Amino acid sequence: MRTSSKKDARRALKPVHVLRSDQFTPATLRKLFRLADSYERRLDQDPMGVRNDFPGHILVNTFYEPSTRTRMSFALAASHLGLVVHGTENAREFSSAIKGESDQDTARILASYRPSILVVRHDQDVGPAHMAEVSRVPVINAGAGKGEHPTQALLDLYTIVKKKGRIDGLVIAIGGDLKHGRTARSLAFMLCKYRPAKLIFVAPASMQIGKDVLGCLEKAGISYERTADLCRALPYADVVYWTRVQKERMSKKAYARVRDRFIIGPPEMALMKEDAILMHPLPRHREVRKEVDDDPRAWYFEQAKNGLYIRMALIAMLLTGTLRLPP
Ligand code: NCD
Repeated sequence: MRTSSKKDARRALKPVHVLRSDQFTPATLRKLFRLADSYERRLDQDPMGVRNDFPGHILVNTFYEPSTRTRMSFALAASHLGLVVHGTENAREFSSAIKGESDQDTARILASYRPSILVVRHDQDVGPAHMAEVSRVPVINAGAGKGEHPTQALLDLYTIVKKKGRIDGLVIAIGGDLKHGRTARSLAFMLCKYRPAKLIFVAPASMQIGKDVLGCLEKAGISYERTADLCRALPYADVVYWTRVQKERMSKKAYARVRDRFIIGPPEMALMKEDAILMHPLPRHREVRKEVDDDPRAWYFEQAKNGLYIRMALIAMLLTGTLRLPP
């Protein structure tokens, strides 16, 4: 039996972990997007046709926070590719976390059962990175606290590129709860790698985007504006990316103050450009009215669908060793 922790540490350095959106370069993203396109085509042609791509591999989903799209699209992406999927939802209650086991112990054990990939959603910003430190297999951050959600940013960026053909030169408005929402943060970090014309962050001061994101934009020379006024953003944006107020991450009082601000309904859609798109990572609550769903610019269901193809591509690149990311 090996007990050397130094050896363990060296081994644990080897796997490629997907933890933050700044790990991705435009070149890596181009490869990933091409592969995602090909998986969509292949599934369209024959839904069973990709099942033999990675037989025998195993993906483990460990979700400490609720999820519909991320968990299911990882599971379905893996199943389409021929992997076997195991795991737990509500890991805070359904795993030994409830007995006080640390997430690093959990990660060490799960990884030692030799899955090919460990997907982790965590309630702490550093959770997945912490688990990756002791994992001998790749860990994918599937959303961590108020920190990052890099695979959501992958599918968001993919959706924009698919629909608009580019990122460079676009005005992108990102609105809602930008302080507690990890998807807005990860998307903005990823946009730092491109040359959008401008980012407009639409939120009240109490929910505005973090200084770390602004620092990244400044370093990249990307201009940005912060406003609480929808009229200063919607008419100029090529992409409107709206997000939910993260009720579970604030006090009841704070939620009551902000919950009805920043709602997009038909009057707000009327302010938007004819060829703009409205995106949302979902789930939506009240911030995007249902009446908007039939507007051809409402693109959130297409966006969610792209999550399947992007996660298939991500899994495939990890398993073929073609995903090269900095730690
Ligand atoms: C988001 C999340 O979990 O961060 N959902 C998702 O993964 N698509 C957004 C949210 O919860 O508001």
